[in-house]
Amino acid sequence: MTEKTLYIALNALQEAVFILDANRTVLFENHVAEELFGKGFLGSDFVQVIRHPECMKIIEQVLGGENAVEKSITIEFPVKAVFNVLVSNISVDTGQELKLLVSLEDISDLREAEQMRSDFVANVSHELRSPLTALAGFTETLRGPAKDDEAARERFLGLMEREASRMTRLISDLLSLSKVEANLRIRPSGQVDIAVVIHRIEVTLDAQVKKEKKTLEINIASQNSVITSNEDELTQVFQNLIENAVKYGAQVSKITVDIFEQENVVGIPGTAMAVKICDQGNGIAKEHITRLTERFYRVDTHRSRDKGGTGLGLAIVKHIVNRHRGRLQIDSEVSIGSTFSVYLPIKH
Ligand SMILES: Nc1ncnc2c1ncn2[C@@H]1O[C@H](COP(=O)(O)OP(=O)(O)O)[C@@H](O)[C@H]1O
Ligand SMILES: [Mg+2]
Repeated sequence: MTEKTLYIALNALQEAVFILDANRTVLFENHVAEELFGKGFLGSDFVQVIRHPECMKIIEQVLGGENAVEKSITIEFPVKAVFNVLVSNISVDTGQELKLLVSLEDISDLREAEQMRSDFVANVSHELRSPLTALAGFTETLRGPAKDDEAARERFLGLMEREASRMTRLISDLLSLSKVEANLRIRPSGQVDIAVVIHRIEVTLDAQVKKEKKTLEINIASQNSVITSNEDELTQVFQNLIENAVKYGAQVSKITVDIFEQENVVGIPGTAMAVKICDQGNGIAKEHITRLTERFYRVDTHRSRDKGGTGLGLAIVKHIVNRHRGRLQIDSEVSIGSTFSVYLPIKH
């Protein structure tokens, strides 16, 4: 192979590649290397490209006689990134002067995904552990101090029921989440009347609405509210959003649900069906809004738990809306209230 074909091959790679001589001088840099670190390092010391002690150390190791050394390093400049760096001696057995190949593969996304996965497992375990610990504690009390106390027994059984149903809710939300995630690329195909779905939710939530001293007003401005969708998923979206409005709204206040058709929604071709859920609640501060759809993210964990929340509702909502190629918009003003707007394409 000629040197030219070698360079063409190195330019076709997806990782950044440099060739250095025994003095660490850059003899070649491929296109990806130029994109990532900038042009013009030919003839310079490699330390000009990446000033990183670990990286220099593995280069020294190969210069000192090792065939190849690999290590992942985190660099802060030009942008923060994690690279898998492989330095190899490419002149072994050629009888020519020593040359090194340094390849850098950007593994930042991979690392981030790993981190998210492990955070998720830690969160789930934590969420499951608290009700379990409570249950174990109540069992002990029922065996011991509360053994012959009828009233205490009733109260503890009630609390145990509450913890058990918290776990059930958590598991069923986790299952919903993984189900939507698995189907994310498949488009929904059923025909669903949003108005019917919303009215059914109104019936389901009636007792909770009354208990929380709220009123629920539903306005349907659209002649025909049938869209291409999945009925179960739509129910989950609007039940979660209306339930949040009920839970986090101010005492004795009104919640309105408006359904109407809307043209020119960013990212949705044709006409979209809009459903706006508006509450007169505490509102949500700006810094929280962008994070609300993260799993287990809550503004006030204590309040959410107290109201039986799992912290997964909005993550499920976001996934379902994405699967429908729709849009979720959150507008809120502290101490005034919040509006959650869902835009869904009418046809796919
Ligand atoms: N309508 C709302 N008004 C104020 N805060 C809200 C509203 N909806 C959601 N939130 C905040 O967003 C958080 C996440 O919501 P969600 O994912 O549904 O979890 P959960 O309701 O189980 O806590 C809630 O804990 C709450 O802090
Ligand atoms: Mg919720």
